Amino acid sequence: MLQNPKRYTITAALPYTNGPIHIGHLAGVYVPSDIYSRYLRLLGKDVAFICGSDEHGVAISMKAKKEGITPQEVIDKYDGIIRKSFLDFGISFDNYSRTSSQIHHDTASEFFRKLYNDGKFIEEVTEQLYDAKANQFLADRFVVGTCPKCGNEEAYGDQCERCGSTLNATDLINPKSTITGDTPVLKSTKHWFLPLDQYDAFLKEWILKDHAKDWKTNVLGQVKSWLDDGLKPRAVTRDLDWGIPVPVEGAVGKVLYVWFDAPIGYISSTKEWAKREGKDWEPYWKSADTKLVHFIGKDNIVFHCVIFPAMLKAEGSYILPDNVPANEFLNLEGNKLSTSKNWAVWLHEYLEDFPDKQDVLRYALTSNAPETKDNDFTWKDFQARNNNELVAVFGNFINRVVVLTNKYYDGLVPEPEAFSEVDVQTLSEMHAYPAVISSSVERYRFREALVELMNLARLGNKYLADEEPWKLIKENPERVKTQMYIALQIATALAILSEPFLPFTSAKLKKMLNVHPSPEAVIDWLEVSKAEQILAPGTKIGVAELLFAKIEDEEIQRQIDKLEATKTANKAENKKAEPQKDLIQFEDFAKMDLRTGTIIEAEKMPKANKLLVLKVDTGIDIRTIVSGIAESFSPEGIIGQKVTVLVNLAPRNLRGVESQGMILMAANAAGKLVFVNPDAEVPNGETIN
Ligand code: MF3
Ligand code: ZN
Repeated sequence: MLQNPKRYTITAALPYTNGPIHIGHLAGVYVPSDIYSRYLRLLGKDVAFICGSDEHGVAISMKAKKEGITPQEVIDKYDGIIRKSFLDFGISFDNYSRTSSQIHHDTASEFFRKLYNDGKFIEEVTEQLYDAKANQFLADRFVVGTCPKCGNEEAYGDQCERCGSTLNATDLINPKSTITGDTPVLKSTKHWFLPLDQYDAFLKEWILKDHAKDWKTNVLGQVKSWLDDGLKPRAVTRDLDWGIPVPVEGAVGKVLYVWFDAPIGYISSTKEWAKREGKDWEPYWKSADTKLVHFIGKDNIVFHCVIFPAMLKAEGSYILPDNVPANEFLNLEGNKLSTSKNWAVWLHEYLEDFPDKQDVLRYALTSNAPETKDNDFTWKDFQARNNNELVAVFGNFINRVVVLTNKYYDGLVPEPEAFSEVDVQTLSEMHAYPAVISSSVERYRFREALVELMNLARLGNKYLADEEPWKLIKENPERVKTQMYIALQIATALAILSEPFLPFTSAKLKKMLNVHPSPEAVIDWLEVSKAEQILAPGTKIGVAELLFAKIEDEEIQRQIDKLEATKTANKAENKKAEPQKDLIQFEDFAKMDLRTGTIIEAEKMPKANKLLVLKVDTGIDIRTIVSGIAESFSPEGIIGQKVTVLVNLAPRNLRGVESQGMILMAANAAGKLVFVNPDAEVPNGETIN
């Protein structure tokens, strides 16, 4: 771990622009990286917090095919939506770029050419999977098959998302084209390979030895298992039409592999930022006193800990990451988050339902962040975090302090008298928090840091509850001045220390308390001993405003219902049609006498859950039909319903009632029966054929 770095380059995984982003992205990557960056800025550090849209790769081409639009249209659409979500949630990137930008195409091409010219690639003609019908080579997500390592039947051509293995498409057992569903054939094609096996010793030394102590165990574990398996050369080019053209002779129709170009996106985004800010980008990537940290989800570990470092090493002039604090996955109400299954809480939709509650989501996701294992997001937990913690602890403390200060002193921060023992103790506890929180953040333990922040609010609440200024104000108003002074210092400490975690709340609170310390004053205060007080006596604070509001059960129920609806819709989509029955002849069909009719009476069959006794006008006559539809319809609701009736079905006796025909029904996705009903215009008794 680099001690006393001079500057920080902090990257957050570039999201694919094939869909909007959801809570899993926020919890795993963007909130932690934002907390880290904001925290460092608070300390006055030189920070470049870098991200951008990942706009190449098969994920984009597939989305375009599915929606019948061009890849360019796909990326423009989602780049816009994603950018807005980040802005809305206060993710404070110094730069958010796009891999479709010119600066990125240039940077990635130059990087490839450097490796090419230095002889770092193996150029080889090999047999690759080819879809003859689609007239296209299959790589990455264009092919699925069984993972040779874990047996997952839906592994992609470059990676198995179940066991995390990186694969070559030809490793897949039973490969199938995702374009046509066909089994691919093999066809020769030339590609450039990065011989990862040659970096084996370097990686072992750098990660497993140098970083054995400071990297997260989940990251080290994954890296170790790949290295133990043995690394193989890996193709860094593809036969595709969407991507950055391979910038050398004899590579027509070939593009860079998306995982070759995307991480270089961190570099191009830094360049773009530096250019705009009038800075030099190179120290942020090439200077040994720069601390480079990659924030990612666990499915990205191999790319950031093995492949990209090997690329950087091959290039030769770059630094390597100091840490890659990858998170595990967040689930939603017990199921894996999934863009394709719409099993997600989309950020743009969350804000429609909970405008101004960005910090509540940031808080809930950080409290429950999948830092060491997969975790589950539930709406009940979200509600409890808000009501029992943000409202009851943080909001309640601030509210009491601000209301009482306004009541007793017209909003003016009082001058303290001599401190009691409890006062001294409380102030000293308060002053310990910056170091405690900082130590957690430095170790990427953001959940722990947030717990400590709340403990500071608890300290304030306890102080007020023990001291009870509201009881003392009559008999000893001098003492109350000191108590309120101390409570106000704690409130101010919360305003400052909450900034990395709850930036919107922090801004509101600073305004409410009328504290606008200079960055230097904050640093002095954070370094404890230099400055005791941060809110000076005589400051006029504002009136109490609601920081957090209680979330009611109905609001939560609405979210749960929304997810239930998604489940139902998914079931409908997955419901496979039954195979066709054996062939019949026209004569067989002609034997059936199908007529249009209308239900004119309906009642429940006594002691039977499923049966309704119906009177149906068939146009021929009015007859009784017993129908097993009582679980889907109430008798009153179906009077007047147009129906299709099989009138020449031999009568059957059902519970003592003779049923003279059958009404045609089908089941909808949720299993509810629906009528196969003729148009209302058709009179009763018409023959259906
Ligand atoms: N787009 C990838 C994903 O969503 C992440 C790319 S990270 C980068 O999994 F390093 F390639 F930029
Ligand atoms: Zn697998």
